[in-house]
Amino acid sequence: MKVAVIHGPNLRLLGKREPEVYGSDTLDDVNASLRSLATELGAELETFQSNHEGELLDFIEAAAQRVDGFLINPGAFTHTSVALRDALTGVDRPFVECHLSNTAGRERFRRHSYLAPVASGVVYGFGVQSYLLGLRGLLARLSG
Ligand code: DQA
Repeated sequence: MKVAVIHGPNLRLLGKREPEVYGSDTLDDVNASLRSLATELGAELETFQSNHEGELLDFIEAAAQRVDGFLINPGAFTHTSVALRDALTGVDRPFVECHLSNTAGRERFRRHSYLAPVASGVVYGFGVQSYLLGLRGLLARLSG
C-alpha cells in the first residue's frame, strides 16, 4: 500500500506558526511520526508540501499514477479551493482530510470545507494525532 501525504500552504512553518493553535512540532517531526506509523502498518509513504495551489494539483495528478490514496491537510485551501476538490475527485483515489486544529470551533470561514463532502473521512482537532489517525483511517479504507 502506498500513500502520499500532502501538506498545503503555510504548513512548512509548523513549530513557529501560532504554536498555541498548531502545536510545537515541525513539519519534519510530523513527517517522521507518519513515516514511523506507516512502517509499523506496512505502508509506503511519500510526502509533499507546497504553498501553491497549481503545484498541489500537478502533484495530485502525477502521484495518482503511483499511490493508492492521499492524506491531505489542505491548509487554507480547504475553505477556498474548488480546484483542489476537483483534482482529488478527478484522480479517483480515496483521500482523507486532516487538520491540526479544531476548525469547527474557530472562525466561521474555517467551518466550511470544499473537500470534506468527497473525502473518505475527516479528522480534526487532535494536533499531530489528526494526521496519524487519518493515516490509520485511510489504510483501513484501502485494505477494507
Ligand atoms: C489547518 C486549518 C486551516 O483553517 C488553516 O488555514 C491552516 C491549518 C489545520 O491544520 O488546522 O493552514 O488546516
